[in-house]
Amino acid sequence: MAIRLRRPQRGARLKPPKRIFGFKPFSKQQLKLMTWWMPGSPFQSADGVIAEGAIRSGKTVAMIVGFLFWSLLTFGTKEGQDFIIAGKSMGALKRNVLKPLFQILNALGIKYFYNRSSEAPNIQIWHNTYYLFAGHDERSQDVLQGFTAAGLLIDEVVLIPKSFVEQAIGRCSVEGSKLWYTCNPGGPFHWFKTEFVDERKKKRLLRLHFTLDDNPALSGKIKNRYKRMYPAGSVWYKRFILGQWAIAEGLVFDMFNEDVHVLPLSEIPTWFPRYGVSIDHGTTNATVFGFFGYGRGDGRVYLLNLFYYDPTQHLQGRKTDSQLANDFEKWLSGKKPQDIVCDPAAATFIVELENRGYEITKADNAVLDGIRLLSNQMHWDDAKQPSFFLADRAEMLPLKQEFGSYGWDEKAQERGEDKPTKGNDHGLDMVRYFFKTVIWPFIQETGGIEGWEIH
Ligand SMILES: Nc1ncnc2c1ncn2[C@@H]1O[C@H](COP(=O)(O)OP(=O)(O)O)[C@@H](O)[C@H]1O
Ligand SMILES: [Mg+2]
Repeated sequence: MAIRLRRPQRGARLKPPKRIFGFKPFSKQQLKLMTWWMPGSPFQSADGVIAEGAIRSGKTVAMIVGFLFWSLLTFGTKEGQDFIIAGKSMGALKRNVLKPLFQILNALGIKYFYNRSSEAPNIQIWHNTYYLFAGHDERSQDVLQGFTAAGLLIDEVVLIPKSFVEQAIGRCSVEGSKLWYTCNPGGPFHWFKTEFVDERKKKRLLRLHFTLDDNPALSGKIKNRYKRMYPAGSVWYKRFILGQWAIAEGLVFDMFNEDVHVLPLSEIPTWFPRYGVSIDHGTTNATVFGFFGYGRGDGRVYLLNLFYYDPTQHLQGRKTDSQLANDFEKWLSGKKPQDIVCDPAAATFIVELENRGYEITKADNAVLDGIRLLSNQMHWDDAKQPSFFLADRAEMLPLKQEFGSYGWDEKAQERGEDKPTKGNDHGLDMVRYFFKTVIWPFIQETGGIEGWEIH
């Protein structure tokens, strides 16, 4: 039987237009990052480059362009080589590196093949192959073993385990290999600061420091908006806006102010489109439940009610899961929140609540991300309102006390780790779980926070 070929309708087979990167004239610092390896450059013989500094300062985009030209012109025209491109997670890599990379390739008219289905996802450009890795994943290290590369690009290297970075460097054994790193600063004792940034001469690395002014795509208005993301003296401001390797010291939430964040009941709306509950569970430590209202379109989140049971403060002492679940039901008194999130470590308590018919979401316990998000939401100044409030009720007292005592662990800082001190943190853990697990996805759905980078 003859097959009648139907002509496609006009335009039906046309691919959607390619997204093309809209370049603005590069800043001086971006040009340096793109060209340091070229003949005639005073840094031509360096083994690599570190672009570090403020968020959104144009580091990653300029590094992609530099890395691409260097790798293609040095190796891609001959038999080709393999390269490592790594980020903290595949998600972060796609958002921060691959998306601009593909747009840049489209803008330059360079053909590429993205092989995403294989065990080791990779991109082929000319004769080169660029393998993609997530540095957080223990398995990534196995994939790296036995691999020979002519260079690497590691985005946000401060967030990646040192073991992965060392392993990746070890793979770059091809003559002429070069190492490209970007990061926002961490603490002054972070291994990447002490062993790479400070040792850059020994390691033959060029360091390029970026500020918001080095990104030609940012208007003054947007820059000012970024500057208002965190309190001016906070560790986040120093690191992400000023680009300093600043120590995390003092109180974690030093922006907390009873006059600002605690509202009389008369100033709190009586109805919310969305309600949520968050739980931090302890057996020898405090158990805390919080009831939140949000979603009125003003970005504000209110902690409306709190339950706080500290076994060391009561004659009765420790309570069983079942007793705490009774407390929970009595406290909730039939209210039906859309979300209930719980400390992921509280496996037996979660089962107890599930057996009673509650649907429980295990909380995202990424401590630093949660703290940073809550800091941003609580930050206020003359031009920015805070987004988190507590109802002025007597039961909030233990949480208010936690705000006044929850500090950075200075011993951990000396080891290069950002960690709050252990202790009175159960109410704050509860709040943090809620923001990271419920409010963060809600913010993203409803437009996100401009300039925010999620890790
Ligand atoms: N020369 C440029 N032209 C156009 N847009 C740019 C340029 N440099 C940076 N940008 C844009 O600015 C934003 C931040 O750049 P990025 O390189 O991701 O910053 P960083 O890595 O420092 O956080 C991105 O949206 C990027 O596309
Ligand atoms: Mg970046």
